[in-house]
Amino acid sequence: MPEPRKLSTPITRLLGIDHPVLLAPMGGVAGGALAGAVTAGGGLGLIGAGYADPAVGWGSDDWIRREFEKAGDRAVGIGFITWALDKRPAALDVALEMAPRAVMLSFGDIAPFAAKIRDAGAVLICQVQTLKDAREAAAKGAQIVVAQGTEAGGHGADRATLPLVPAVVDAVSPVPVAAAGGIADGRGLAAALMLGAGGAMIGTRFWATPEALGHANQKALIERSGGDDTLRTRVFDTARGIVWPEPWTGRAIRNAFAGTWHGRDDALRAEGAAMRERFFAAQRDGDTDMAVTFAGEGLDLIANRPGAADLVERIVDEAVQALATAPRPG
Ligand SMILES: Cc1cc2nc3c(=O)[nH]c(=O)nc-3n(C[C@H](O)[C@H](O)[C@H](O)COP(=O)(O)O)c2cc1C
Repeated sequence: MPEPRKLSTPITRLLGIDHPVLLAPMGGVAGGALAGAVTAGGGLGLIGAGYADPAVGWGSDDWIRREFEKAGDRAVGIGFITWALDKRPAALDVALEMAPRAVMLSFGDIAPFAAKIRDAGAVLICQVQTLKDAREAAAKGAQIVVAQGTEAGGHGADRATLPLVPAVVDAVSPVPVAAAGGIADGRGLAAALMLGAGGAMIGTRFWATPEALGHANQKALIERSGGDDTLRTRVFDTARGIVWPEPWTGRAIRNAFAGTWHGRDDALRAEGAAMRERFFAAQRDGDTDMAVTFAGEGLDLIANRPGAADLVERIVDEAVQALATAPRPG
């Protein structure tokens, strides 16, 4: 008898999806094609609107509409960086016009946006990095709390996934929790479920798919790098002129630029607009010695570039297998 392939959890039931796999709304990487492919694979794709700031390279109103259209008739959601949305709240209205299945807010106070999102019929997902913020998100109306460990690619904080997830599960119950940070295969998904999470939010692993946005040089770098090659830093934000509030930093692949400037943010800032222009040009041209490639410790587990829908199914198959063959007591 083949094992049943569905892993039904409170998150799959709330979102109406087959598999407890959520695509992280990676700014500059998760566009409509990737989000649509993850949904086609049975998970839920989230478009990464990031700062909703075209000056950073994506997230204009037109960009948001276009990326939803690229997802076709598949239900997808969208994610914003909350403190940036404070500065351009109209971007949320554009997103809600596109009838997203879910809206994820990360890094900031969800209170100004929570009711509007829920009233529009979207599931409100909130990503947090501490127990305190998890409790606050649940109290302010989050319907899914994503507990993000420091292993994650992109912005985050200091707590590790393994102890953070069960603590958040206990703190916000009955609100369902998704685990994020370092999950890149079915073993990680199975572990997340064992910690009490109702699913996993996965970013870095989906970078290495044909549907992901981003330069081919960055995808090649993702494939040949490992978790040891990453660092948490502010240097790439300083280079772009983006001022992130405390306590958040970004995990990215260490490159020559980080080697020169990491920890020297004041000196980098003093380089001014000329440096910013060079940096954005490097990003456009795929110069990975200078450009930022945000990625997490899960890089060790990436060896190929499958289609995103196949990847969802593969991760679920592996998780089912891992759960079925886990050591039993006795
Ligand atoms: C390239 C990249 C860009 C990201 N951009 C965002 C973002 O714009 N907003 C956000 O909430 N999280 C962002 N994240 C973090 C993800 O939401 C998620 O927490 C993380 O990818 C999970 O860990 P993993 O990368 O180990 O799978 C980003 C992550 C990566 C790798």
